[in-house]
Amino acid sequence: MTTDYDSIAEQYQRSKLTPWRSYVECFTLLELIGDVGGLNLIDVACGEGFYTRMLKRRGAVSIIGVDLSQGMVDLAQSLEASRPLGIQYQVGDARSLPYENQFDLAVAAYLLNYAPDDATLSAMCASVARALKPGGRFVTVNCNPACNFPSAPSYRQYGFETSVIGEWRVSAPITWTFYLGDTTFSIENYYLPVANHERALRDAGFADIRWHAPRLAEEAAREFPADFWRPFLGGQGAAPAYAMSLPEAERGRLRERIRASLPFAVDGSIPLMARAWAVRGTRPTADA
Ligand SMILES: C[S@@+](CC[C@H](N)C(=O)[O-])C[C@H]1O[C@@H](n2cnc3c(N)ncnc32)[C@H](O)[C@@H]1O
Repeated sequence: MTTDYDSIAEQYQRSKLTPWRSYVECFTLLELIGDVGGLNLIDVACGEGFYTRMLKRRGAVSIIGVDLSQGMVDLAQSLEASRPLGIQYQVGDARSLPYENQFDLAVAAYLLNYAPDDATLSAMCASVARALKPGGRFVTVNCNPACNFPSAPSYRQYGFETSVIGEWRVSAPITWTFYLGDTTFSIENYYLPVANHERALRDAGFADIRWHAPRLAEEAAREFPADFWRPFLGGQGAAPAYAMSLPEAERGRLRERIRASLPFAVDGSIPLMARAWAVRGTRPTADA
């Protein structure tokens, strides 16, 4: 956990105002969370409380925000002091949350990608699972663990860039540089594959684990040129989304079939004439 959020708390807060945050990140996360009316929530790695405030305003009965960074929590608390919503914030580590059987819903925006190894990832998942009541849900948004960041497109038009120095391997650090017009700042998180996430979540006792591709709010299509969102969502078309929806064992079989049946070049690339898209659907019954 190398990023010192204390020193960049305000810059990070400003970065939440860029369009991709509202139209993709926030839109997708809130859709997946659904109605929070009547629920007791915990926002793990709450930062300065961007989602904590939003979820309280959307009807959560109670919400506690926990973050490792004192600077982030100070910012959250000063906002709570100036416009009280009844939110409790505290400094704490997601690996050892002091709660058991307490929450209906745990939310974490960009927590799991701060785990540099399987032990940390497992500790985070186990601690969140412990904090939930039986039947409680965990909804989390992360930097895509299925993305090959060394070959990712430039995201500069959205206000950030990613870079990987050195070998692309499990635990490789990914640097994110955010451009805010008058200033830039960087954070670092880590690559752990999808299978490692699934293992950690399953071992923590989570069932019915599902991956969802980012979604784009309708207003975004009206406000931006047609191809503006393509680099961001480009790797998220029907085929990757379908592959991500499969359980790990089936995804492994699909990977092996692709390896066995496609003409791989010496450099590992696949010289194809056209790109295929996979779509899954259900045929309605005759009386439907
Ligand atoms: C990218 S920020 C996201 C903040 C907030 N969730 C949001 O979306 O605005 C990541 C946050 O994770 C926090 N964090 C990293 N590791 C953590 C840990 N082990 N326990 C609690 N918070 C952690 C950092 O302090 C930072 O505030």
